[in-house]
Amino acid sequence: MSPVEGSQVEEPSLARVELGLDWAALRRAATEAMGHAYAPYSNFPVGAAALVADGRIVSGCNVENASYGLTLCAECGLVSALHASGGGRLVAFACVDRRGSVLMPCGRCRQLLWEHGGADLLVDTVDGPEPLSVLLPRAFGPDTLS
Ligand code: THU
Repeated sequence: MSPVEGSQVEEPSLARVELGLDWAALRRAATEAMGHAYAPYSNFPVGAAALVADGRIVSGCNVENASYGLTLCAECGLVSALHASGGGRLVAFACVDRRGSVLMPCGRCRQLLWEHGGADLLVDTVDGPEPLSVLLPRAFGPDTLS
C-alpha cells in the first residue's frame, strides 16, 4: 500500500474534523439564543450553541430565578434542547456573552458538556477550538461508573 492509500484509511484527526466546522455559524446561533436569556438579577445574558454529530444545532440561554441559586446556565438549556430534539453526541460548542464575545463555560457546565460530548468535544475559546479534555482534565464521567 502506498503512503497515499494508507493515509486514506486513517481516522480523521481532530485537526481535520475541525477544518469543516463553521464556528461563525455556531457563534451566531449562540448569540441568537443569548437574545432570549432571562437574566434580570445578574444582567449577564448568555447564549450557548452546539453542533450535534448528525448535523443539528442545539442552543440554550441562561434562565435566572428570584432564588438565585436555582439559576439555569445556558448550557443547561442546551442539554435539555439536545434531548428534547432527539438526543445525540455534541461535537462542537460555543458560548457567548451579550456582545457575542466568546465566553468559557463554568466548571459545572464543563461537567454537563462532558456527559454529552466527552473528551473530544471541541470548545470555542479566544485561542481557537480546544478539546474538552484540556478544559476538564482527568474528568469524572460515565466511564468512571462502568
Ligand atoms: N452563566 C451561564 O449561563 N453559563 C456559564 O457557563 C457561566 C455563567 C450564567 C449564569 C448566570 O445567569 C450568569 O451567567 C451570571 O453568572
